[in-house]
Amino acid sequence: MMMNDMANVASSTGGGGRRIGEVILDLKNISLRFGGVKALTDISFDIREHEIRSIIGPNGAGKSSMLNVINGVYHPQEGQILFRGEPRQKMEPHMAAAQGIARTFQNIALFKGMTVLDNIMTGRNLKMKCNLFHHALFFGKAQREEIEHRKKVEEVIDFLEIQSIRKTPVGRLPYGLQKRVELARALAAEPTMLLLDEPMAGMNVEEKQDMCRFILDVNDQFGTTIVLIEHDMGVVMDISDRVVVLDYGKKIGDGPPDEVKNNPDVIAAYLGTSH
Ligand SMILES: Nc1ncnc2c1ncn2[C@@H]1O[C@H](COP(=O)(O)OP(=O)(O)OP(=O)(O)O)[C@@H](O)[C@H]1O
Ligand SMILES: [Mg+2]
Repeated sequence: MMMNDMANVASSTGGGGRRIGEVILDLKNISLRFGGVKALTDISFDIREHEIRSIIGPNGAGKSSMLNVINGVYHPQEGQILFRGEPRQKMEPHMAAAQGIARTFQNIALFKGMTVLDNIMTGRNLKMKCNLFHHALFFGKAQREEIEHRKKVEEVIDFLEIQSIRKTPVGRLPYGLQKRVELARALAAEPTMLLLDEPMAGMNVEEKQDMCRFILDVNDQFGTTIVLIEHDMGVVMDISDRVVVLDYGKKIGDGPPDEVKNNPDVIAAYLGTSH
């Protein structure tokens, strides 16, 4: 897709009306090693409420590792993370979910044999209070809760325009639609912060355009903070409020798209002249 198209998508969803809020996640001097591999070295940046914050950089730069730190999957050896101003304790992924953080993965992580509907339903797991025991004892309450979950899932299905495939096993869908189902599952958790690891990778132009529009709509209509890893620079520069650039695990740029685009270190990293 042309960059102008993306810009039109951005403005048509009313990006200007969005209010970027306070810092919700503040990452300070994060370093992460795997044995001898330094995946992240002394990285600091913050994420503000309601913004689209992109993380870019060449392959192996540490982008996915950074998402895993934010998500509580990886625990950095050094550094501090403040969540709404409070230092975050060592956390597990389910704790991130409880803080309103949901994600999609670089490699689609869905149950291929299950239907679209059932896959999206798994995104509600954390919200379900009633377990089997409750179901047995308090049938009415469990039933009401089930109805509420179904309603939320149907809303997400409508929002992402996937009604026609709701009963299809995910494994039978083309790649682009599987990516959309994964987004649906993340949205079913009603996150305040959505981490997207290359949501448009491997998509054709039309699929990319759709995904781009959905990301902007989620951000605009629900105010969801988006942390986006994406290799397509046209998309990144058009829809991001701020961009952080990683290279070999180090931060080499951070700022609004126009600033980052003209940063000599960033240009060098992408042209491969700095190494
Ligand atoms: N679980 C792990 N164990 C060992 N090394 C890891 C692990 N996860 C990441 N790494 C290493 O950390 C570095 C950064 O990897 P990461 O996947 O974060 O990069 P990336 O920027 O997401 O790359 P890509 O664009 O290819 O997805 C790489 O050298 C990678 O091999
Ligand atoms: Mg990655």
